Amino acid sequence: MNNTKHFNVTIRVWRQEGPEEPGRMMAYKVNDVSPDMSFLEMLDLLNEDLIKKGGKPVTVESDCREGICGSCGLVVNGDVHGPDEHSTVCQLHMRRFKDGDVITVEPWRVKSFPLLKDLAVDRSALDRIMAAGGYISVNTGAAPDANSIPVNKDDAEEAMDSAACIGCGACVAACPNGAAMLFTGAKLSQFALLPQGQPERQRRVLGMLEAMDKEAFGNCSNEYECEAVCPKEVKISNIARLNREFLLANLFGKAEPAATSSHLISTPDVPEDE
Ligand code: SF4
Ligand code: FES
Repeated sequence: MNNTKHFNVTIRVWRQEGPEEPGRMMAYKVNDVSPDMSFLEMLDLLNEDLIKKGGKPVTVESDCREGICGSCGLVVNGDVHGPDEHSTVCQLHMRRFKDGDVITVEPWRVKSFPLLKDLAVDRSALDRIMAAGGYISVNTGAAPDANSIPVNKDDAEEAMDSAACIGCGACVAACPNGAAMLFTGAKLSQFALLPQGQPERQRRVLGMLEAMDKEAFGNCSNEYECEAVCPKEVKISNIARLNREFLLANLFGKAEPAATSSHLISTPDVPEDE
């Protein structure tokens, strides 16, 4: 038998019919909320109730609901991805709240992520940065022998940590400049640290930064908000690497890329590791 005490909350949520329509906050009561529900399940409950009453459900994006796809993204009571540290909003649980709470829910407020409807925004600018990075050179054909390309263990681990980025855009939403430097640094680092990423290394950084500028993302001013909210704990040192890669690509143009990350120079204003 489930003895969990259910409770009621009021949700103040941003409603906007479309990109050109005016938006406003609307308040709704959500009753019978279980503390074991995820925040998105609570919004499902709200939507079921709205539909039953002939109203329009709140548009909200989600997919995996287990913190790996990056499609959910909300500002809850002013916190990007909600009050839990290093968590996606789909992993936030209603036990974080109590009976009678008024919870404010807003979409990402970022110029480069235009609002589509209610809580859904268009984050395809991040995809275009990725696409501008292009491909890596790999030979097709039979699978290579295991360990035929030696990779330094530290580089492999750092590349994996960078590859953990799920492209949620929280770093951009938390940055006062709307910068996408942490995202771009992570997506660049996952290739720049590995031998397979070397042939296109310089072209990649120039392409990605050009795309980032074109999408009107801001610049980093060392606020560290991105690192603080990232659900995958992507480190700010990825921004330092992005700066160094950019510097090297400009200095050496088409010259042979450095063989390993240890050849890189350091950037003074963003520390390598926290
Ligand atoms: S760096 Fe972190 S916050 Fe930014 S998009 Fe990737 S996972 Fe999300
Ligand atoms: S729904 Fe996939 S990360 Fe939240």
